[in-house]
Amino acid sequence: MRDFLRVLGLAKRHGAWILLAVTSMVVVAVATVFAFNLARPIYDQVLRSSSSVGTTLELPTSGVVAALDGFADRAEQALQGWVGESRVAILVVVLLTIVVKNLFAFLARFSSARFGLATIRDLRDRLFENLLVQTPAYFHDRSIAALVSRATNDFQLLREALAERLGDVAQDLVTVPVILVYLVSLDLRLTVATVFAAPLLFAPVVHFSRRMRARALQAQERTDEIATVIDESVRGIRAVQIFGMGRFMTDRFRLANQRQYLAGLFARAIQAANAPVMEIVGTFAALAVIAYAASQITAGGMTLGDFSAFILGAYALYNPLKRLNKFNLVLQPAVVAAGRIMEIVDAPAAVCDRPGARAVTEVGGGVRFENVSFAYRPDQWVLRGFELHLPLGSTVALVGGSGAGKSTVVQLIPRFFDVQEGAVSVGGHDVRDLTLASLRAQIGLVTQEHLLFDDTVRSNIVCGREGISDGAVEAAATAADASEFIRGLPAGYDTVIGEGGVKLSGGQRQRLAIARAVIQDPPILILDEATSSLDPESETQIWRALDRFTHHRTILVIAHRLATIRRADLIAVLEDGRVAELGNHDELIAADGQYRRMVEMQELS
Ligand SMILES: Nc1ncnc2c1ncn2[C@@H]1O[C@H](COP(=O)(O)OP(=O)(O)OP(=O)(O)O)[C@@H](O)[C@H]1O
Ligand SMILES: [Mg+2]
Repeated sequence: MRDFLRVLGLAKRHGAWILLAVTSMVVVAVATVFAFNLARPIYDQVLRSSSSVGTTLELPTSGVVAALDGFADRAEQALQGWVGESRVAILVVVLLTIVVKNLFAFLARFSSARFGLATIRDLRDRLFENLLVQTPAYFHDRSIAALVSRATNDFQLLREALAERLGDVAQDLVTVPVILVYLVSLDLRLTVATVFAAPLLFAPVVHFSRRMRARALQAQERTDEIATVIDESVRGIRAVQIFGMGRFMTDRFRLANQRQYLAGLFARAIQAANAPVMEIVGTFAALAVIAYAASQITAGGMTLGDFSAFILGAYALYNPLKRLNKFNLVLQPAVVAAGRIMEIVDAPAAVCDRPGARAVTEVGGGVRFENVSFAYRPDQWVLRGFELHLPLGSTVALVGGSGAGKSTVVQLIPRFFDVQEGAVSVGGHDVRDLTLASLRAQIGLVTQEHLLFDDTVRSNIVCGREGISDGAVEAAATAADASEFIRGLPAGYDTVIGEGGVKLSGGQRQRLAIARAVIQDPPILILDEATSSLDPESETQIWRALDRFTHHRTILVIAHRLATIRRADLIAVLEDGRVAELGNHDELIAADGQYRRMVEMQELS
């Protein structure tokens, strides 16, 4: 419920619409009552030639009621003063009232729907924005289907309550008290009788008949008794016949059968009596009301018009009260949905800017891992005392077995995760002291999973960055060895590549992803198996094309094919969460360790 109220709190932004909605609702309620009140002159003046309007009202009433009484009466007098005695004028007023009422009814519904829908739109925007700042770990712990369901189904429930029903309910909440005040002003006793006595009268009848019927039907459905007797008799048919138990069994069966018959009959009797009883009670109540009204009318305390207005008003209470009663059915799921939605909207980002975080503008000093320990789950260390320096302008390769933690190392640089111990620094600053946006702007990352959109080749490379010339796009494509295949596409750079790039081959997709990183022109470029789905020849070609680009940048390469990284300035072998060997290719071969064994294995195969 707290969350639901908070959702309503969000609607504050649309205060003007709420104000318009509430104002219109008040106008509608007052116009409704005013319309009932017009039944008085219609009956007393339009339909009856000899009007009894104007007879003094002398009810032994308290001050409040007298005041209310006065209200209805004054309203009528004002009306009379305004339109005179003219019957036509009254009919015109009726028409005007109804037109005004419905005009505002439209305004009320429109503006309440407008604010409900706008609130939902804002909330959905906030949900999506908050999803985008979550770390990958957030999504590892949740099913994507559940998240999507919240963004759609739960919003649907909320929408039903907020945009479709809330307006009606608010209108009812305004209308009901206004009608009640009006009814009291017409006749206190009759109002009390209608509002309190009617439910008192009818409720027991309804309740009693419902319970009796349920019980009777329950009894009737106890078919097991009959089934049992049949089952026993048939199963033990030989015993029944030999011991002469036929009579005994038949009696037992008859008893059970008769019980069912009576139960069924009782249920139907109750059912059959329901409508007649209700009608008799209803007629009794109606006659009582009419008798009371008649005595009032004769005594001059009420006119026929008053009575008609009262009946109209009392009847008009029926639907709003029924709707209010049912709103709960819509409200409950909406409250649950609001809770589920707010859970996502409120989810704190595990990684965010520290207060006073500074923007990094240059990365002199490269990237440094100092005594880094990291675990995805408590005590399951992936990195333990990991030390590595990627000097500015050098290409460093990270190798190691599957699951050794290479991709984990990569994710610590743009702070997809924060380290538990030690520190990662970029340009001499701990990454946690830098703003996320500025840090990530320094880093280009290409992995095996790249996000391609169902859009043109060009916009997949540019990715919404502004001020990028066609020349720059082509240069980036050339650096990624992609320009050749792009030129071969039906519409070149304007070819639409399908959802996830389905219309391209795996290698073409990878080249596009690399071109996208190149155009970002990042000082630090990370390639995590970025070329591994290519054949060795294409891979070599890409690296040759990238050569000019990698100059003066800090590059981190991860590749299973060791031939790819042979020319790296530094090769680090990752083992047991730390760097086990470090050096260039020749040094590591000479060291005759893990790296040499890995190279020999690959050459053999
Ligand atoms: N999101 C995660 N939650 C929990 N454990 C994870 C998560 N991602 C990776 N791991 C675990 O961390 C360890 C290192 O994974 P990582 O992806 O860094 O290995 P890798 O060296 O890149 O392997 P590969 O060469 O197969 O890509 C693995 O044991 C893996 O099971
Ligand atoms: Mg990996």
